[in-house]
Amino acid sequence: MTGEEKKRRRLRLGVLISGRGSNLQALIDACAQPEFPAEIVLVISNRPEAAGLARAETAGIATLVVDHRDFREREDFENALNAALKDAGVDLVCLAGFMRILNPDFVNRWRDRLINIHPSLLPAYRGLKTHERVIADGVRFTGATVHFVRPEMDDGPIILQAAVPVHPDDTPDSLAARVLEYEHRIYVEAVRWIAEGRVRVSGGKVRISGVSTPEYGLISPKTQEADPTR
Ligand code: GRF
Repeated sequence: MTGEEKKRRRLRLGVLISGRGSNLQALIDACAQPEFPAEIVLVISNRPEAAGLARAETAGIATLVVDHRDFREREDFENALNAALKDAGVDLVCLAGFMRILNPDFVNRWRDRLINIHPSLLPAYRGLKTHERVIADGVRFTGATVHFVRPEMDDGPIILQAAVPVHPDDTPDSLAARVLEYEHRIYVEAVRWIAEGRVRVSGGKVRISGVSTPEYGLISPKTQEADPTR
């Protein structure tokens, strides 16, 4: 590969889904822009009926169903996932509503090359039914988080977060819809930063260089760099 080819090479994404695939769609739309530094080379669903599969097919992206029910051991299911991702030459695995817990073996194989989007401000509200719990607790802000995956559920170095206000009359559905808009935005932004080589994990935390997007609750590395006391 020449230097020029290396520069032009886009980061190869593998996206794992289980359902609707709206975050997948946000990534598909971003990757359709010629200047976006990543491309989706494979979408894998563990459920044959996942609506996200049709989104990928419409965009001309290779899809694969690896149905967890076809495997007796979780390890075998994950070996199949791993083999498909390797065969496709995937650089970065994006979990996008993927509803299976992954064993430490799989997570460690893809360490710092495996990211997830979660609908809360982690480390608050790990797990499922985040919006129901947020409303029940009466908190004023929730949000969304993109993070590197570690073996513990919804754990790992945080790449990007958006804070989203909770309205007094919110239902779980209305809140989910508001948060989802931000999920789409920060997932795309996090992938862009990783593809541009700006993201590094050090001491369990993510450091980002040379990015200035101090909007809608996103971290602002430029501001951090400008402040010598931090
Ligand atoms: C999103 O809220 C995501 O944060 C969570 O699962 C949901 C998936 O939605 N992990 P979609 O399939 O991307 O539409």
